[in-house]
Amino acid sequence: MNNNNIQFHDLHSSRNEFASDVLSGLSHRPASIPPKYFYDAKGSKLFDAITELPEYYPTRTEIGILSVNAAQIAQHVGTGSLLVEPGGGSCAKVHILLQGLKPRAYVPMDISKDHLQLAAEELAIAFPWLEIHAACTDYTKEMCLPPSAPKGTHVAFFPGSSIGNFDPDGAVNFLQTIVDLVGPGGYLIIGVDLKKNKQILEAAYDDAAGITALFNLNLLTRINRELDGNFDLSKWQHKAIYNDEVGRIEMYLVSQMDQTVKIKDSAFSFAKGETIHTENSYKYTRDEFITLAAKAGFQSEALWVDENNLFSVHLFRVQDI
Ligand code: AVJ
Repeated sequence: MNNNNIQFHDLHSSRNEFASDVLSGLSHRPASIPPKYFYDAKGSKLFDAITELPEYYPTRTEIGILSVNAAQIAQHVGTGSLLVEPGGGSCAKVHILLQGLKPRAYVPMDISKDHLQLAAEELAIAFPWLEIHAACTDYTKEMCLPPSAPKGTHVAFFPGSSIGNFDPDGAVNFLQTIVDLVGPGGYLIIGVDLKKNKQILEAAYDDAAGITALFNLNLLTRINRELDGNFDLSKWQHKAIYNDEVGRIEMYLVSQMDQTVKIKDSAFSFAKGETIHTENSYKYTRDEFITLAAKAGFQSEALWVDENNLFSVHLFRVQDI
């Protein structure tokens, strides 16, 4: 289907970084693989299932906060803006803001091209007045607006506590790229998961139905399929712990026995109990995150949380020059 309101830009170099990242990550000890590789077609479906689990509070809580405060958010930011969403491949939460914000244009950016294109088409049907400039790009690497994007106050939208995948220094760097993107007077609306009781956190990343375990293990299935690997999934177990010294959930795949795994022509040995670190998900208090964002050049404008203090949505602004 074609829609006049959508422009599509492929800004992503399709070089195979999955192979080099996996081979190098598995050569190091402790071994690790970047969490962005969770999201193949199956992984994206499993993540959608995670967002509906009783234990996984972030998604529904953030949607609640955005819904209740959409009008207030629009009051701060104003209408007619250029709304940019790094990682917005599913355009899933932005619809909550669109009616109030009435942006001049919406720019979702995502590494997953097909996902992005489909979601943009669906959004265009629901919001026929909206100009959409979809950009296929890896926002952890490069963030530039498509050349066709119109002018207007720039507003970045980064929901889901995706910021938690960066370590704090990486988060400051990433926020600096957003500051550069939105420019003086620009805004950032960002969802950040709050620090809380360890039991609640660990249950959210190790659910009773075992969906997060499948999500974690799917990374090995993806390696087997795309990189000619021979991981035996029955020899690996999902583990999620909250490290309260650094304030993050850590996810691992734990080797259940001494074993050697082959990927293409390389072999990797793991002792029983040895781990592959697959994800960090940092949690911040309100003040910790305001301090972190200030290091990047953002001023706190407003902050909304749910009644149970599970999740926060911050509004930041770059000072005018
Ligand atoms: C997409 C990074 C926000 O950290 O909560 C969910 C990913 N991993 N369950 C998160 C995730 C396991 C999620 N983020």
